[in-house]
Amino acid sequence: MEEIKKQTILSGIQPSASSITLGNYLGALKNWAMLQDEYNCIYGIMDMHTITVRQTPAELRKNTVSLIAQYISAGLDETKNLIFIQSHVPAHAELAWILNCYTQMGELSRMTQFKDKSAKHHDNINAGLFTYPVLMAADILLYQADLVPVGADQKQHLEITRDIAERFNSIYGDVFTIPDAYIGKESARIMSLQNPTAKMSKSDPNPNGCIYLLDDIDTVVRKIKRAVTDSEACVRYGEGKDGVNNLLNIYSSVTGKTIDEAVAEFASCGYGELKAAVAEAVAEELRPIHAKYDDLMKNKDYLESIYKKGSETANYISRKTLNKVKKKVGFVL
Ligand code: TRP
Repeated sequence: MEEIKKQTILSGIQPSASSITLGNYLGALKNWAMLQDEYNCIYGIMDMHTITVRQTPAELRKNTVSLIAQYISAGLDETKNLIFIQSHVPAHAELAWILNCYTQMGELSRMTQFKDKSAKHHDNINAGLFTYPVLMAADILLYQADLVPVGADQKQHLEITRDIAERFNSIYGDVFTIPDAYIGKESARIMSLQNPTAKMSKSDPNPNGCIYLLDDIDTVVRKIKRAVTDSEACVRYGEGKDGVNNLLNIYSSVTGKTIDEAVAEFASCGYGELKAAVAEAVAEELRPIHAKYDDLMKNKDYLESIYKKGSETANYISRKTLNKVKKKVGFVL
C-alpha cells in the first residue's frame, strides 16, 4: 500500500518575553497542538530573530528555555513535534546569508514590520532588523515546509519567502518547496482588554490589556474583570462592540462553543456576569497548563534533552537543503 507522505508544517515564536500571551496561545499554539497527528510539525524557538531588538542576555537565555516548556505545556507533544532552538542550527544563518544575495533592498524596505520596528526602535535600526524576513525565509525553506501557520501580521513575511524561493528556483531548478499559509479552523484575533481595537500584545502600554499564559490565576481574573466594554449593557456581538466581541471571542476560543452559543448563554446577563464566566473559563484552561509548566521547569535536564535532540534532528534535515543550495550556487563542497 502506498503511504501518503505527511505535509510539513513549520512555525515558531520569538523568546522575547518571559511568557507568551493568551493571544499567542489561542491564536497559534492551541491550534498547532491539533495538527500533530496529521502533519509533520516543526516548531522553532526563534532566538536569532529576537536579538534584532536589544536583549538582556540572562533573560533571553531564561526565556528561551521557558518557551520550550510553554510549547509543551500548551499542548505540543514533544514526541510528536520537532522542537528546536534556531541558534543551535547553523544552517539558518548560512542559508540566510545566501538568500540575502537573492533579495532586493527594495523589497525589504517595503516590509511594514521593518517600518514599524524601526520607528519604535529608532536608536537601533540595525541591519538584522532589515534582513529579518530573509532569516525567516531561511527558517521555512530549509525544512521544505509546505504550510506555515502565521497570523495576519506575518503574512507579508510569508509572501516574501515565496518570492525569494520562486526567484531561486527559477534560476537553479526546483530547490525549495514553495510554502503556503496554513489557514486553519478560523481562530479569532484576540484583542487588548484595554484597547480592544488593537491586537493583544506584550507591548500594550497598559499592563491590564494583555494576559500572559503564565499569569497567575488571580491576575488573569483581575485583568478580565477590568476589561473595557461599552455603555450599552447588552451582551451581543456586533460592530462598535469591540470589548464585548473580544470577551466573547476569548470565551468561544477556550470553550469551543460558537459565538452564537455564547451570545445565547449570556443573553440575559450583565457585563459583570459575562466577565466572571469568561474569567472562569480562561482560568480553567490555564490551570493544567500552569501545572505542567511548573513540572517541566523543575526538570531542566529533561528540557535540555528535548532541545538537544530537537536541534540534532533539525540540523540533519536543514543540512540536506543547505548542501543542495551550496552546490547550486557554486560553492565547493
Ligand atoms: N517572525 C515570527 C513572529 O515574530 C517568528 C518567526 C521566525 C517565524 N521565523 C519563523 C514564524 C518562521 C513562522 C515561520 O511571529
